[in-house]
Amino acid sequence: MEGCDASVLVATNSFNKAERDDELNESLPGDAFDIVTRVKTALELACPGVVSCADILAQSTRDLVTMIGGPFYEVKLGRKDGFESRAHKVRGNLPLANQTVHDMLSIFQKNGFTLREMVALSGAHTVGFSHCKEFSNRIFGPRPDPELDARFAGVLKDLCKDYTRNKTMAAFLDPVTPGKFDNMYFKNLKRGLGLLASDHILFKDISTRPIVEIYANDQKVFFDDFARAMEKLGTVGVKDEKNGEVRRRCDHFNKLNV
Ligand code: HEM
Repeated sequence: MEGCDASVLVATNSFNKAERDDELNESLPGDAFDIVTRVKTALELACPGVVSCADILAQSTRDLVTMIGGPFYEVKLGRKDGFESRAHKVRGNLPLANQTVHDMLSIFQKNGFTLREMVALSGAHTVGFSHCKEFSNRIFGPRPDPELDARFAGVLKDLCKDYTRNKTMAAFLDPVTPGKFDNMYFKNLKRGLGLLASDHILFKDISTRPIVEIYANDQKVFFDDFARAMEKLGTVGVKDEKNGEVRRRCDHFNKLNV
């Protein structure tokens, strides 16, 4: 919420409910936090107090993107970790799956991003999962979305049939090549295979459809735009020694803030 400063890694304590414990962040996977802890432990043993948690997050994201077939981009280093992490700041600052393009854009614009950059960054949904509750209204209930591909909707209904009891059920955001970073996400949107309403709306809305078409037709253009937008994302709200620190543990500020 504070920018690229690892505020999302901080754990809640008796004095502060941290942002990762807001309901919207409940779905963040525990094994991702574990990996960061392992990287941090190795780094602290080798060179204590040098590499921030924010730099670990930025670099490991880039490495994962590249490892699964996506573009390489430079990650500048030297970020410090922030001093604040508050659950109440999450709402209103994270885009939601049921928002309009206009509403999502206003959140991206607050952080200096354009419409085209928002669409490029949404291409991150070429990997990863979404829990059923995020798209259940598109498949169940009084008004299922007729624009969702019928076969895809059938598979999702089956997968999510017990989702209110089993909250862990989740579907791939890119059902065609879920383990690959490619432009399939944009091709899917044209065929009713966008999982979230916020994915599908990028094709439906006339302001974003031409950008989706460009990325669906040319993976290189998508990769170039995505790489530049990720470089930019890595500079949002960066902290220096005046307003940040290198945390000893990524889940705790070095001093207890009370
Ligand atoms: C444009 C507005 C966006 C909306 C409305 C949105 C919404 C969502 C939602 C609802 C999920 C599923 C969460 C869950 O159920 O676990 C999700 C997952 C994900 N989002 Fe987004 N997102 C947006 C933009 C982005 C951006 C800009 C990125 C990165 C640059 C991104 C990366 C991801 C990834 C990697 C996942 C999968 C997480 C996992 O597998 O654990 N999203 N997003």
